[in-house]
Amino acid sequence: MRIYLDNSATSWPKPEAVYEAVDHYQRDIGASAGRGAYQSAQQAQRIVTETRAACARFFGVTDHNQVIFTHNGTAALNLAIHGVLRKGDHVVTTVCEHNSVLRPLQMQIDQNEVEVTYVDCDPAGYVDPAAVTDALEPNTRLVAITHASNVIGAIQPIAEIARIAHEASAFILVDAAQTAGCVPIDVTVEEIDLLACGGHKGLLGPLGTGLLCIRPGLENQICPTQQGGTGTDSLSESQPEQLPDKYEAGNLNQHALAGLGAAIHFLEQQPATWHQSLQLRTRQLLEGLATIPGVTTYGPTADQPRVGVVSCSVEGYDPQEFAAALDASCGIECRAGLHCAPRMHTALGTANTGGTIRFSPGWSTTAAEIDTTLEAIAALAAVPVH
Ligand SMILES: Cc1ncc(COP(=O)(O)O)c(C=O)c1O
Repeated sequence: MRIYLDNSATSWPKPEAVYEAVDHYQRDIGASAGRGAYQSAQQAQRIVTETRAACARFFGVTDHNQVIFTHNGTAALNLAIHGVLRKGDHVVTTVCEHNSVLRPLQMQIDQNEVEVTYVDCDPAGYVDPAAVTDALEPNTRLVAITHASNVIGAIQPIAEIARIAHEASAFILVDAAQTAGCVPIDVTVEEIDLLACGGHKGLLGPLGTGLLCIRPGLENQICPTQQGGTGTDSLSESQPEQLPDKYEAGNLNQHALAGLGAAIHFLEQQPATWHQSLQLRTRQLLEGLATIPGVTTYGPTADQPRVGVVSCSVEGYDPQEFAAALDASCGIECRAGLHCAPRMHTALGTANTGGTIRFSPGWSTTAAEIDTTLEAIAALAAVPVH
C-alpha cells in the first residue's frame, strides 16, 4: 500500500493525460523546439507555444510571451530576484518564505549591498499588510512574499500587499509554489508584477518545469541571469531583447512542458467545485488530528484561508522518526523536518525540535486514505518512543 501525502513537494499521481503527453513527445516528436524547419521541430514548437498560451490563460496573463519557462519554481524565483535587484536596493519579505526566496536574497545581501527586512507573521501564519507598510523604505524595490506557506498553508492577502507595494513604487514578487493550481490566481486583476511557481506541484505537470509571469513592460527592469542560444537573432552575440527569448537560453524541458500543457487542460476542464474535495480532505485531516492525544497541529484552522498543507508534531517522537515509522508501518508518505523554511519554523517554535511532520493531500487523495492515515497516527502516538 502507498498513501502519498507529499503533494506540496511535488504532486503524484499526475492525470493520465500528462503521462500520455510526455510519452507522445518523447517517442513521436523528440525534436528541439524553435531550432529546425522540419516538421517534427515545428510540431515541438507548437506544443511549447500551446503550453505557454495555456499557462498565460490560466494566470490571466494577457500576452503569452510574458510567461517564461524555467526548470522549477526555484529558478523562476532566482530569475526574478537577481534580475530585478540593483546594488543598494531594499527588499521587504517575510518569515514565511522558502529558502528559494531567502537564499537568493542572502546572496544579494552578501554580494550586492542589498538590505532585507523580514516581516513577522501571527501564530496562524498570516502576515499583517500594515506590517508590510511599516517595513517599507524609500529605496524598497521589491516586496517578495509567498502566497501560501509550505509549512502550515496560510494564504496571504496578496492583492492588498500588491497595492501597498505599488503605492511605494516597489514591485511585488509572489511565490505561488503552493497555490498555483490550487487557488485561482489572476495576475492582471491582483496586480502581481512577478508570479513564480513550479509546474509540478498543484499545476500537476511533470518535475523539471517552472515558470515566471512578468507584467508587460517590467522586462525592461529585469536582467537575464543566463545567456545562450535561442535559435533566433543568431548573428548577435548579445542576448535577444524580445520575450521569451531574453530569459530562455538553451533548450527547454520540452517533453515535460508537453506534460504541463496537458495538465493545464486537465485543470481547465474540472468543474468550479473541484477544489472542494481537497478542502474537505484538509478539514478531515485537521479535525482528525485534533482528536488524537499527544498531537499538536500548527497554523490556520480549516475555516481560515489556507491550502492543504498540514503540519503537526507528536509527543514522544522526533518528526523524522515519526514520518519514517508511518512509512514503514503503513506506506504513508509525508515529509518531516524544516521544509526549507527555517524562519517559519523559528516563528512556530519548532526550529530546534526537528521541525514538524507535514501532510499534504492532493487532487486524488480519498477520504478513506485520510482515515487510514489518522488511524496510523493515533496508533503510533499511543506508544511514544522517547
Ligand atoms: C513556498 C515554496 N517556494 C519555492 C519552492 C521551490 O519550488 P521548486 O521545488 O519547484 O523549485 C517550494 C518547493 O517546495 C515551495 O514550497
